[in-house]
Amino acid sequence: MEFQAMTFAIPFALAAVSWLFLYYIRVSYFTNNNKSAYAKLPPVPVVPGLPVIGNLLQLKEKKPYKTFTSWAEEYGPIYSIRTGACTMVVLNSSQVAKWAMVTTYSSISNRKLSSALKILSADQCMVALSDYNDFHKMIKRYIRANLLGSRAQKRLRTNRDTLRANVLSQSKSHVKNSPLEAVNFTRVFESELFGLAVKQVYGNDIEDPIYVGGTWCYTFKKLDFSGLVVRDILDGGNRWLIDWRDFFPYLRCILNKTLETKIQRLHSRRKPVMTALINEQKKRIASGEEINCYMDFLLSEGRTLTMDQITMLVWETVIETSDTIMVTTEWAMYEIAKNPKQQDRLYQEIQKVCGSEMVSEEHLSQLPYLTAVFHETLRKHSPAALVPLRYAHEDTQLGGYYIPAGTEIAINIYGCNMNKHQWESPDEWKPERFLDPKYDPMDLYKTMAFGAGKRVCVGSLQGMLIACPTIGRLVQEFEWKLRAGEEENVDTVGLTTHKRDPMHAILKPRS
Ligand code: HEM
Repeated sequence: MEFQAMTFAIPFALAAVSWLFLYYIRVSYFTNNNKSAYAKLPPVPVVPGLPVIGNLLQLKEKKPYKTFTSWAEEYGPIYSIRTGACTMVVLNSSQVAKWAMVTTYSSISNRKLSSALKILSADQCMVALSDYNDFHKMIKRYIRANLLGSRAQKRLRTNRDTLRANVLSQSKSHVKNSPLEAVNFTRVFESELFGLAVKQVYGNDIEDPIYVGGTWCYTFKKLDFSGLVVRDILDGGNRWLIDWRDFFPYLRCILNKTLETKIQRLHSRRKPVMTALINEQKKRIASGEEINCYMDFLLSEGRTLTMDQITMLVWETVIETSDTIMVTTEWAMYEIAKNPKQQDRLYQEIQKVCGSEMVSEEHLSQLPYLTAVFHETLRKHSPAALVPLRYAHEDTQLGGYYIPAGTEIAINIYGCNMNKHQWESPDEWKPERFLDPKYDPMDLYKTMAFGAGKRVCVGSLQGMLIACPTIGRLVQEFEWKLRAGEEENVDTVGLTTHKRDPMHAILKPRS
C-alpha cells in the first residue's frame, strides 16, 4: 500500500516541481521584461538642488504646494526633487495625477508617512493613512457602510438639519443683539460641526461628565474635547510634523528627543480622552442600550479590530469631518461675502427655486449655481492641498517617465486645480465655470479636490450634504459683507488649507 502510494506520489511531485519551475521562469521573464520596459523610459525632469540636502532649503517656505506649483511652470507638470536622501516625484496636472491614482493605483497606493504621522496614526490604523492592503479595504468598507455611504447618510440626516438650524439661530441672535458687529462665522460653525462629527459617530450628544485619565472629572464642554482631540493635533501637527530624520533615513538611529516628546505628548493627551468616551459607550451597550451608530458597529467587530484600531478609526472620522468641511464652508462664505455679484446670482437662484421654503438637501439637484459655488471653492481652496504622500512599491511609469520602486509620490491637488493649461484664470473665484454643459451638475469629482481612484475620499457625499445646504440657507437668510480688512486675510495654517484668522462678516437680514 505504501509502495503504491509512493509510485503515484513521486511522478506527481516531479510534475509539480517542474510546473513550479516553469511558472517561476515565466513570471521572472515577464517581471524582468516589464522592469526593463519601464527602465527604457526617460527619467523624470529634475529640479536642481544642492548636494546631500537636495531641494530641502528651497522648501523651507511653509506651503510646499505653492512652491511645487511654481516649479511646474518651469519644469512641467511632472518633475522630481530630492528631499535629503529621498527622491520625490511631484504631479501637478489632473491628467497625470488621475493616471497615477486610477491607472497605476496598484503600484502607488501605499502611504509614505513621516515619523510623527506614524505615531499619530498609531502606526497606520486609519483609513486615510493605512497602506493599500486587506486591512485598508476592510475598514474603508466599514466606514462607508456605517457612516459615509448614501444609506448611512440618509439615516444621519437629522444631525445635519440640527446643525443648520443651530448655525442659523446663532447667527440670527448675533444680528439681533449686535447688528453692527461682525459675526465670527468660524466660531459658530466650528463648534456645531464638531458636535455633529461626535454625534454621528456616538449616536448621541455627550453631555454627562466623563472621567478622564484617572485624574480629572470634567463635563464634556469643560474638558474642551474639541481642543484636545482636534485643534491641538492640527496645530501641533503643523509645527512638528516634519522631522529631519524623515529625509535622511540612514540617520534614524540618532534620537530627536524634542520632537518625539512633543508628538508623544499629543498622542498621550488624546488617547485617554478617546478611551474614556469608548468606555462610556461600552457601559451603555452592556446595559442593553445599543444604537445604530458607527461606534457600536466598531465595538461589535472585536473579532477583526483591536481597541487601538477602534480608537483611531473613531478619532479619524471626528478630525476629518471637523476639518475639511470647516475649511470648505468657511472659504465659500468668504468668497460669497467678497463677491457681491456672485452672491446676488446665488440668492436669485435660491429665490426662484425655493420661494418661501427653506433651502434643504432635496433642493440641491435644482440649484446648479449653489453646487457650482461648492466646486469652485473646492477648486480654489482645496482643503487637502497635497494628498498624503504615497510611494511606488514597484517600478512603474507616469506621464511616459520611468518611476523606479521606492520613489515618493506627491500629488499636488492645489497645483492640479490651479493649472493654467486646464483652467481659465485659475486665481479667480468663478462658480460660473462649472455651469458649462460639459459638467454633470451632480458629479462630485469635477476637480481633483477629493482625489481619485481606489483611494478616493469616502467622505465626499457628506462634505456636499453638509456644506451646500448650509451655504444656501446662510445666503437665503442674510446678505453677507466682509468686515473691513478681512479681504486680505487669506493666510492658511495647518495640514489642510485652514484659514489662519477666523472669518468675520457683517450680516444683514434679507427681510
Ligand atoms: C470637502 C471635504 C473633503 C475633502 C476636500 C476631502 C479630500 C480628501 C482627499 C484629497 C483624500 C485623499 C485621497 C487619496 O489619497 O487619493 C481624502 C481621503 C479620505 N477622506 Fe476626505 N475629504 C473631505 C471630506 C471628508 C470627510 C467629511 C470625511 C469623513 C470622515 C473624509 C474621510 C476620508 C477618508 C477616510 C479618506 C481616505 C480614503 C482612502 O485612503 O481610501 N473626508 N479626502
